[in-house]
Amino acid sequence: MAEDKLPGVMELTPFNPVFNDDPHVLLDRLRNACPVHRDTNSGSFILTGYDDVRAVLSDTTMWRHPERAEEAAVLSRAGLQPAPPGLTVPEDERGAGILFMDEPDHMRVRAPLAKALYKRVAKSRPLVQQVVDEWLDRVADSGSFDVMTDFATRVPVDVIARTLGVDPARLAEFREWSEGAILGLYPFRNEAETQGYVHARNCLSDYTRELMAARRAAPRDDLTSDMVALQAEGAELSDSELSTNLQGLLIAGSLTTTDLIGNAIWLLLTHPQELAKLKADPSLIGSAVEEALRIESPVDLTSRIAPREMEVRGCPVHPTQSMLLHLRAANHDPKVFPDPRRFDVTRKDAPHVAFGGGLHLCVGAPLGRLMGQVAILTFLDRFPNARLANPDEKPQWATMPLFRGFKTLRVAI
Ligand code: HEM
Repeated sequence: MAEDKLPGVMELTPFNPVFNDDPHVLLDRLRNACPVHRDTNSGSFILTGYDDVRAVLSDTTMWRHPERAEEAAVLSRAGLQPAPPGLTVPEDERGAGILFMDEPDHMRVRAPLAKALYKRVAKSRPLVQQVVDEWLDRVADSGSFDVMTDFATRVPVDVIARTLGVDPARLAEFREWSEGAILGLYPFRNEAETQGYVHARNCLSDYTRELMAARRAAPRDDLTSDMVALQAEGAELSDSELSTNLQGLLIAGSLTTTDLIGNAIWLLLTHPQELAKLKADPSLIGSAVEEALRIESPVDLTSRIAPREMEVRGCPVHPTQSMLLHLRAANHDPKVFPDPRRFDVTRKDAPHVAFGGGLHLCVGAPLGRLMGQVAILTFLDRFPNARLANPDEKPQWATMPLFRGFKTLRVAI
C-alpha cells in the first residue's frame, strides 16, 4: 500500500501484517484523514469517527437486509451468494437471522426472542459459574494451558447449549457443529472446511427442529421451551424463523464471547497494575470487562444501508449505499475516550459501541457480559499466579477477518 493511499476494508483485516500488529495505525490514519471514506473494494463507505458511527447506529430508519444494498456494495451483499452444494438447511431458514432483517419483521422476531432470553439470562449466573468451573477444573493441574482452546472457546458454546436445552448426551456433537458453523464466517475456507461447515449447519438445523418438536410435546426449563410456548401463545414467528434464530444465538454468541474472554485475560496479564487493581477490588469486574470490550473489541464492524438521501459529516450518501461502521475505530476515538490506547479498568463514562447499537444492538450483550465477568474473575481467583507462558513472543492473533481474538494464548499457572 502506498503511503498516501488510504486503507480499504481489505487492508483492515488480519491478513495485512500492519493491521494484525496494530490495527490503530491504519484506523487512526483513516479517521484523521477521511472519517467517511468511500472504499471501492467493498463498495461501501467506512465510518471511523465515534459520533458518525453512533448517529448511524441510532438511526432507526436504516436498513440491514443485504438485498437492499446497491450492486456495488459487494461486502454487504456477500450473504446473498448461492449456498454451497450439499446444504440441506431449508431455503427460508438460511437468511432469516434478525441481524439481517428489517422492520417490521426484525422486531416481530426480535421482541419475543429478547424477552425470553433476558428472562433466562437474569437467572443464569449459577449455570455460567458451573460451566466455567468445569472447564477450569480440567486444566487446574496442567501447569500451563492454552486459554483459547481449553477455556475461552468452551465456555460460550456450553453455556449457550445449556440455555437452549441441548441434551447432555448430544453436547459433544453440538460442540463439533459449533466449530463447523463458525467456519461460515471465514471467507477463505478450503474445500474440506466448506464441507465441514455444510455438515455442521445441516446437523444444527436438524437438531434444532428436533429440539423444538420435543419441547412442544414436553416442555422443560430451557429457552427452546420458552420460545415454542411464546409461539403457541400467539407470537408471530414461523418455525423457520425460530429455528434460524435459535441457531443464530450460537453462531453470533460463541466466537464473540470467546474473543472477549481471551482478549480480557491477555490485557490483564500484560498490564500488571490494572490486574492488581482488579484483584484488590473485584467489584471493578464490570468496568474491566467494558474496557476490554472497548480497547480490543471482538467485532471490528457492523453495517447499515441508507434508506434515503442523507449526509454523514457533510458527505452525501445515496439510498441503497452501504456504510461499514467501524466499531473498533469508534471505540478508540480520542474525542470520546481520552488517551484511547490506555487500558484502564476504572475508566468511567466510556459508552463504547462494541455491541453495535440502535434497533440491532446485540441481543446477547447481557449474556456475553455475564460470561466474560464470571470467566475472568474465576480464572484470576483459581490461578492467582497466572502469567503469559511466552511473554516475549508476539501475540498470536487469529486470522478471522472482521473479528479480533487470539489463535492461541498460552498461560503458565
Ligand atoms: C461479548 C461478546 C459479544 C460481542 C462483542 C457482540 C457483538 C455484536 C455486534 C457488534 C452485533 C451487531 C450489532 C449492530 O449491528 O448494531 C451483534 C448482534 C447480535 N448478537 Fe452479539 N455480541 C456478543 C455476544 C453475543 C451473545 C452471547 C449472543 C447470543 C447469546 C449474541 C447474539 C447476537 C444477535 C442475535 C445479534 C443480532 C441482533 C439484531 O440484529 O437485532 N451476541 N453482536
